[in-house]
Amino acid sequence: MDDFARSLDSLDSPGAAPRPIPVWLDCDPGHDDAMAIILAAYDPRLQLLGISTLVGKALSRHQAISKKEQQQKLLPLAQVTRNALDVLSIAGVVGVDVVQGQARPLLRPSPLLCPEIHGESGLDGQRRGRTTNAQRPPDAHAARVLLIRSPEGGPVLPHGGGQALPGKAPVVMAERIGAFLAENPRAAPVRLICTGALTNAALLLMLYPELHSSLEIVIMGGALGVGNTGPVMEFNIQTDPEAAKVVFEAGLPLTMVPIEVTHTALVTPEVLGRLLTSRPGISKFKVLIEQLLTFFAGTYREVFKFTDPPLHDPCAVAYVADPSIFEVEEMRVDIETASPLSAGQTVCDVWHQTGRPKNCRVARSMDVNAFWGIMIDALDFADIATPLR
Ligand code: BDR
Ligand code: CA
Repeated sequence: MDDFARSLDSLDSPGAAPRPIPVWLDCDPGHDDAMAIILAAYDPRLQLLGISTLVGKALSRHQAISKKEQQQKLLPLAQVTRNALDVLSIAGVVGVDVVQGQARPLLRPSPLLCPEIHGESGLDGQRRGRTTNAQRPPDAHAARVLLIRSPEGGPVLPHGGGQALPGKAPVVMAERIGAFLAENPRAAPVRLICTGALTNAALLLMLYPELHSSLEIVIMGGALGVGNTGPVMEFNIQTDPEAAKVVFEAGLPLTMVPIEVTHTALVTPEVLGRLLTSRPGISKFKVLIEQLLTFFAGTYREVFKFTDPPLHDPCAVAYVADPSIFEVEEMRVDIETASPLSAGQTVCDVWHQTGRPKNCRVARSMDVNAFWGIMIDALDFADIATPLR
């Protein structure tokens, strides 16, 4: 089917319920990736086809890693894959498979790791001073008391025992996405949502050009200005600048949700209170979410002096679920790969000074209150589905 026929075919007939948007999530969990997984799995406007992982975040001596994986020096990768499986398990998500992706950037010798923010497991939680039902934050002040604890972390998620699919991420992604499109010729393009480095995405695009016309890419990453892991570099792009260059120059519909926007998704005491009290009673699932977010708040406070931590990754998922809550602007974005000072910078031509063709929709702002509504609804669905009782 050609592009025009597909776009006509994907229109819903009048009166019919809109079909969910097919999405694939490529991630490196990660506290905010964990929330992105839950949002992608539970937002009713989305159909999560699968999850791929790639290295990032964790630097672990975690016991869940097998001897074989240790020998293969895949510790951080195996850890984020385990994290993705554990998040699906505690959130009660069934029927969504995980496949492991790249352990290293395309050309660079080693990935960036970020244990100072996410803990050694990549998903550490605050273990000291758990809230009891009586202390459940009824108001902003009580939630502030939670958020200002200093981080004393460790792994908190129970292991669900799930296994990743055999095979390598780009191959399995192509097979699964191809099979979905063959079975659903009327479906909208699959949104590939990337919340880690773009290594898997670049390989998928390079190996399977036949999928280009059926894909749109939405990433959390990049910065218009100041970076977070370098003066002008954001973590996901700086981890693998060459992969980012492939993705930004591939010519596919591409949306970037940069840190200027994700830094507005702050887990304030009000947000934490809203999230913890959105359903009656205390649940083990919400306690785990609280432990994760409290640890994340502590590390963001220590490393970046943020009063409240920004929940980056679910912003990209929210963009796919409801683009109307974002302001976006099309512009040329190029990836710096050569400079020792700024490799990994997303060079955003806001004023169209280069004259180069626009290649990216860049989110400039988000309705933060609406975002939290979407995120908390998804967490509430997970709270109903969770096997943790
Ligand atoms: C990005 O880096 C990671 O720490 C987060 O998960 C997010 O994807 C923010 O720069
Ligand atoms: Ca991430």
